[in-house]
Amino acid sequence: MAVTSEAFGKNLFGENVDLFTLTNSNGIRVRIMNHGGIIVSLETPDRDGNMADIVLGHDTAAEYADGGPYFGAVIGRFGNRIKDGKFSLEGVDYTLAQNNGPNALHGGLKGFDKIIWDTEILEDTAIRMRYVSADGEEGFPGEVETVITYTLTDDNELKIDYSAESTKATPFNITNHSYFNLAGHDSGIAVGQIMTINADRYLPIDATSIPTGEEASVEGTPFDFRTPHVIGARIDEDNEQLAFAGGYDHNWCLNKETDGEISFCARSEDPVSGRVMETFTTEPGVQFYAANFLDGTLKGKGGCMYVKRGGFCLETQHWPDSPNQPQFPNTILRPGEAFLSQTIYKFSVN
Ligand code: BGC
Repeated sequence: MAVTSEAFGKNLFGENVDLFTLTNSNGIRVRIMNHGGIIVSLETPDRDGNMADIVLGHDTAAEYADGGPYFGAVIGRFGNRIKDGKFSLEGVDYTLAQNNGPNALHGGLKGFDKIIWDTEILEDTAIRMRYVSADGEEGFPGEVETVITYTLTDDNELKIDYSAESTKATPFNITNHSYFNLAGHDSGIAVGQIMTINADRYLPIDATSIPTGEEASVEGTPFDFRTPHVIGARIDEDNEQLAFAGGYDHNWCLNKETDGEISFCARSEDPVSGRVMETFTTEPGVQFYAANFLDGTLKGKGGCMYVKRGGFCLETQHWPDSPNQPQFPNTILRPGEAFLSQTIYKFSVN
């Protein structure tokens, strides 16, 4: 077990970036940079013990530039979409940057994915990152202090713990945007991998990917992953919901016995390498995004050109557009409250 750090060049703003490497006693290795809290690489063994890097990303900090697909990044202060970039809170109307068609996406023009996190090593298994987002930053009210701890355990778990406090009521929804490809980041299309999602319901969207407000049953639809299904088996079916997003890019409403408990979210498996990833979270939802918008034009690690559906994200989070949908689980963080959230990605082989 060890954590090391090294200089990792400069980011797109010319700021110095540090890279932290966490290694467990089974040889699993994760590299995380303080720019955006980005998981740069994650190496795990296949069933024969061969290691591969199973997350998409870039070789240098500077290549994580504006307009990218948020590879590996912390997303905040509000992950996912807010309709028309507008919401009202305590009688005040707020306007955010419309950076995704008419909507606000992933915290704005310079969200938590593009700032330098103040990072320290905690013993030999973890790093802790802290960022204070100013009152008014990206149009949101309240100064928000966020702390994220990444821990790599000898049980082959990557644990991400989030905590936050705000000086004023503000929408808050944080996640990690890693693109996994369990066959290896450079192995091409990932639709042959098998997904299970612990959700009886999902949120249908409109043509701009905003939830309609309905919680629909997955029964009898291509969104039913309650039993294992190959990602690609139904992804191109004639279905309006799939057509709106070019495939899977929706929020699944996770089955929970108790709100806020850590519970099973998803299981992903690559039948060829045998790599398995199980996801657990305290969050009420997961955005399963099958990388429909990658198109083979973006150069990643080792010169790999990342193709459409060449990975998948399991963004554990609250539901999209919650500030405008009062019936959804609450995303307003108020002064004096402690926001706490945990997600665990656990690696094994089959
Ligand atoms: C969204 C996608 C978006 C992607 C950005 C995902 O969280 O749901 O629609 O294209 O982030 O790369």
